[in-house]
Amino acid sequence: MEALRVDDVRKSFRGDLSLRRREVLRGVSLWAEAGEILGFLGPNGAGKTTTIKIILGLLRPDSGSATIFGAPAGGRDAARRIGYLPETPYFHPHLSLREFLEFCGVLSGLSGAGLRGRIGETIDLVGLGPHAGRRLRGFSKGMLQRAGLAQAILHDPDLLVLDEPFSGLDPLGRKTVRDILVDLKGRGRTIFFSSHILPDMEALCDRTAIIREGTVTRSVTLDEIYRLGEGRVEVTARGCAPGTAHDLADYVESAQCSGGETFLLVRRQEFVRTVIQHLYRSGAEVLEVTNHHPSLEEVFLDEFAIRPSPGGTDPAKSRAVGAGAEGRAS
Ligand SMILES: Nc1ncnc2c1ncn2[C@@H]1O[C@H](COP(=O)(O)OP(=O)(O)OP(=O)(O)O)[C@@H](O)[C@H]1O
Ligand SMILES: [Mg+2]
Repeated sequence: MEALRVDDVRKSFRGDLSLRRREVLRGVSLWAEAGEILGFLGPNGAGKTTTIKIILGLLRPDSGSATIFGAPAGGRDAARRIGYLPETPYFHPHLSLREFLEFCGVLSGLSGAGLRGRIGETIDLVGLGPHAGRRLRGFSKGMLQRAGLAQAILHDPDLLVLDEPFSGLDPLGRKTVRDILVDLKGRGRTIFFSSHILPDMEALCDRTAIIREGTVTRSVTLDEIYRLGEGRVEVTARGCAPGTAHDLADYVESAQCSGGETFLLVRRQEFVRTVIQHLYRSGAEVLEVTNHHPSLEEVFLDEFAIRPSPGGTDPAKSRAVGAGAEGRAS
């Protein structure tokens, strides 16, 4: 079942000093299946927050549509099923966390014992139990982000829409928020979130929609990302004879030398044996053979035409190998 669908949405705004409208969304289409985590990735100003506001019904599109579990965005049925964490949430500093959630609960139509029960469960779920009675003005950034998540999930929505849920958090804070989102997914909730932090996105998402200048240019699953690099293997060797790269040109996509070591990116899995045999015969020592999978970061950089060259010193590559080692086929 589809939890979220955005179909060919266009939106323009009038500039402050001109009467001409500028189109910031130029046909955005994306969807999320119920129970999956869909990431929304794009540079500043690409149109992520505008798209999110249209999903929430806070903005009306010029054309196109957004639906939540089949109901039109902005309607009561859609609103009941969405929990929202804004990009810059506002917290009443003088309220305690429990009072803040009471206030939010009343706004979403909860009351009495039902509301009290949900507040207790929600505070436990975000790990703020010991701080329920503390005023929000004493909360750290990470605690506030968890309080924001608590208000988003208080009415037990089926779809969570989170605008930059990791912004401003340190690695520990990011891990805490990640764990909460994984827990919510385990409870069958659908999560749509925007972020600039690629490793977080890579660790969490089933799919990622990449937006650029108001258009979703690409929608990739992690499995697709891993398949993109399937079969390409990197061989690291020491003491290669001059001309090795030339001799192996039919089998090797690129060869780079650095500090006496040579990194060879083998075109296909079945060529690895030939490459290694050639290296041994020419007196080289093979140090390492690694399956090469691109990371989300490489796909992203590729999308924006600033792809790093394949080589042993590329940090994206080592992360990709690490990601592959974390339970994915490599
Ligand atoms: N109310 C508005 N009036 C005029 N222009 C707007 C309005 N809201 C957004 N824009 C413009 O639309 C474009 C997209 O903005 P949006 O906030 O959706 O980007 P974003 O992808 O969320 O960026 P960021 O990563 O910085 O949060 C920007 O150029 C922004 O200036
Ligand atoms: Mg934004």
